[in-house]
Amino acid sequence: MNTERTVHIITYGCQMNLRDGEVAGDILESAGFTLSAEPSSADVIIVLTCAVREHASVRALGRIKDLSRHLRTNPHLLLAMGGCLAQTEVERIRREAPFVGLIFGTGQLPDLPRLIEQALNTEETVLATEIAENSFHLPPTTGRRRGAVNGFIAIMRGCNNCCSYCIVPAARGPEHYRPAQEIIAEAENLVQDGFKQVTLIGQNVNAWSDGGLSFAELLRQTARRSGVPRLRFVTSHPRSLNDELIEVMADEKNICSSLHLPLQSGSNKILQAMGRGYTAEEYLLLVRRLQKAIPNITLTTDLMVGFPQENEQDFSDTLRMVQEVPFDGAFTFKYSPRKGTRATEISEILSEAEKVERLQALIAKTQEVGLRQNQKRLGVRYLALIEGADRRGGSLGRLESNHPIIIAEKLPPGTFVEVVVTGVTAWTLRGKPAEENSSEEIIALHTQTPKAQHG
Ligand code: SAH
Ligand code: SF4
Ligand code: F3S
Repeated sequence: MNTERTVHIITYGCQMNLRDGEVAGDILESAGFTLSAEPSSADVIIVLTCAVREHASVRALGRIKDLSRHLRTNPHLLLAMGGCLAQTEVERIRREAPFVGLIFGTGQLPDLPRLIEQALNTEETVLATEIAENSFHLPPTTGRRRGAVNGFIAIMRGCNNCCSYCIVPAARGPEHYRPAQEIIAEAENLVQDGFKQVTLIGQNVNAWSDGGLSFAELLRQTARRSGVPRLRFVTSHPRSLNDELIEVMADEKNICSSLHLPLQSGSNKILQAMGRGYTAEEYLLLVRRLQKAIPNITLTTDLMVGFPQENEQDFSDTLRMVQEVPFDGAFTFKYSPRKGTRATEISEILSEAEKVERLQALIAKTQEVGLRQNQKRLGVRYLALIEGADRRGGSLGRLESNHPIIIAEKLPPGTFVEVVVTGVTAWTLRGKPAEENSSEEIIALHTQTPKAQHG
């Protein structure tokens, strides 16, 4: 292999894709490539794409078109596209970006060095997009990671759900789970290398299993054996969230008491058309169980507006749920039809303007609720993990609740600092290091919000 070759990797999309980007970097480095931070000097540029909404697809295509300008100064440059758009829309990429020399799918990472060599040696576009059907193994090495405080561990690949709007099952294939030993060993390695927070990731993370071992048990063992100060997991599906998992979250002190639990819609009609497998009432019962077992739990969610046939009543059901839970934060999306998904067969009743209006109303509602939640945190003392510097020379920290907190002082990344919240927005907090023996509340060192707030 030519050791002179440099590769620049650009990643879009979710944590799974970001982790794939890190793994691709590891694989290519071991094969003798040098990673470059600059696209202009690279021999190969890889764009790992996302296709979850049309906007994501357009962005990735726009980026590769923009990068094609480097071909003028370096005609031997290889432009490669991988990830979820490459997996699902090969023809579109060939049509809109014919200069792309390699299109590879989400299961081809281990093959990447060979595919790149092949593409560098032919004028034809190399295509490799078979869905990965093999089992899912990765060496449990620490490898290349973005930063040295938070480490993401991919514990599974794919999704067996078939939400009617979603491209992910087509882009990532059926679920394959990484063996427990690999996952736990990777968490231990991260801790040994000084990481303070580990997040187990998968599109349907709580569906993970390994023989008789459940996700809850994996979480417990990872928490205990690695001893990582903060353990998180994302993204959970409400359908697979059982009492065993709630119990483990409540028991193990280093499992963060925050949970991202996508609701999507508050309307049972829409939830059914989406194929989510729960009703709004069942979701609320789940929330009450979580709040009872973990009184200081922070809940965030994903919500979608404008699903086909969503009427005013359906939409107001979603607004009501935001209020009722109440969510600390929400990612809000406008339904985007994805080619080949079942939802595209349902006729749409909403105009683009109506969808935009609903999205804006939903954002306003989630921000109002988030702000109200955060106002209760003013003056409260918390333990923040310092993740890095902020743009103004201060520090960026994170609370156990997952809220980011900006602190004016420069503090060393990877340290835990007691802070007092001095300012709030709907999601981000501001704070200062707490003074010893001050009269500020100490209540929140291990429980992020005063218990009284949640009754
Ligand atoms: N596996 C996770 C998240 C998948 S994608 C889950 O099931 O919750 C992240 C979010 O993107 C989804 O929760 C959903 O809200 C949104 N999303 C997925 N497909 C979409 C589409 N076609 N249009 C708009 N939003 C979509
Ligand atoms: Fe998509 Fe549903 Fe799977 Fe999430 S659970 S990735 S929304 S199919
Ligand atoms: Fe996007 Fe693929 Fe993730 S479609 S959200 S990058 S799994």
